[in-house]
Amino acid sequence: MTMKSKPVSEAKFDCRKSDLTQIVAIDGPAGAGKSSVSKEVARRMGMAFLDSGAMYRAATWWAMDQGVSLSDPEALARCTEDLPLDLQHEDGDLRVVVDGRDITDQIRTPEVTRNIKYLDGLQKVRTPLVRIQRAIAAGRPTVAEGRDMGTVVFPDARCKIYLDATIEERTRRRAGQLDAQGTPYDLGALQADIEERDNNDMTRQVAPLQKAKDAYILDTSSLSFEEVVQEIIQRAEAVL
Ligand code: DC
Repeated sequence: MTMKSKPVSEAKFDCRKSDLTQIVAIDGPAGAGKSSVSKEVARRMGMAFLDSGAMYRAATWWAMDQGVSLSDPEALARCTEDLPLDLQHEDGDLRVVVDGRDITDQIRTPEVTRNIKYLDGLQKVRTPLVRIQRAIAAGRPTVAEGRDMGTVVFPDARCKIYLDATIEERTRRRAGQLDAQGTPYDLGALQADIEERDNNDMTRQVAPLQKAKDAYILDTSSLSFEEVVQEIIQRAEAVL
C-alpha cells in the first residue's frame, strides 16, 4: 500500500463510515509495545498496518527540516497541510518518505521524539493527519495503532485494545532496544523521558491518550510478545 506524495491538503479520499468497522484499534502509552505487536497482528491476520505515530513524527521532522518555528502553531499547521507524505509498505516494513526522501530512521531520533509535543496538541495539525489515517483504513481491514485510534479516529471500530504496562517494564523494554543498538543511556533519564511523554499524551486538551469506554485493557507487563499477539488475534477474530 502506498500513499502518493501529494501535499496532505490536496489528497482526496473516499472515506465511507461503514468501511471503518473492520478495524483493530490499538492505543496505549509510549513503550507498551504497540508497534511491534500491531505489525505482527496485521501480518498474521492479513490486514493493513497503520502506524499513526509515524505520521506525527514525519510532520515534526518536516517542520524541523523546513525551519518552521516550533512555537508558531499557525506555521506548524500550514507546514503539516503541505507535508508531501508517502507511506510505503515493503515486505511488511513501513518506509516513511517525505518529499522523495526516505526518513524512516530520522523520524526516530531523540530530537524528533522530543519535539513532537509542539505539534501533537494542535487540532489544526491533527485534522489533516486524521483524514489520511481514515483514508488509509477505508475499504481495507486495518490494524491501527497510536494514542487516539479507538477514541477519535475510529470510534466505530469493533475491536479496541488499550495496551498498557508498568513504567518500570516499559523503561526496561526501551533499555533493551537501546542495548541491542549499542546506544548508551541513563536508566533514570530514560524513565523520566517516558514519564514526560505519558504526561504530555494524557493531559493535552486535544485527543489525549485515554482508554476508550469499550476498549479491552491488556496489561502486558508480565506477558510475552507471543502471548500479547495471540490475545489480540483471539479478540479480533471474535468480533470482526
Ligand atoms: O507511537 P509513537 O511513539 O511513534 O508516537 C510518537 C508521538 O506521536 C507520541 O509521543 C504522541 C504522538 N501521537 C499522537 O499524538 N497520536 C497518535 N495517534 C499517535 C502518536
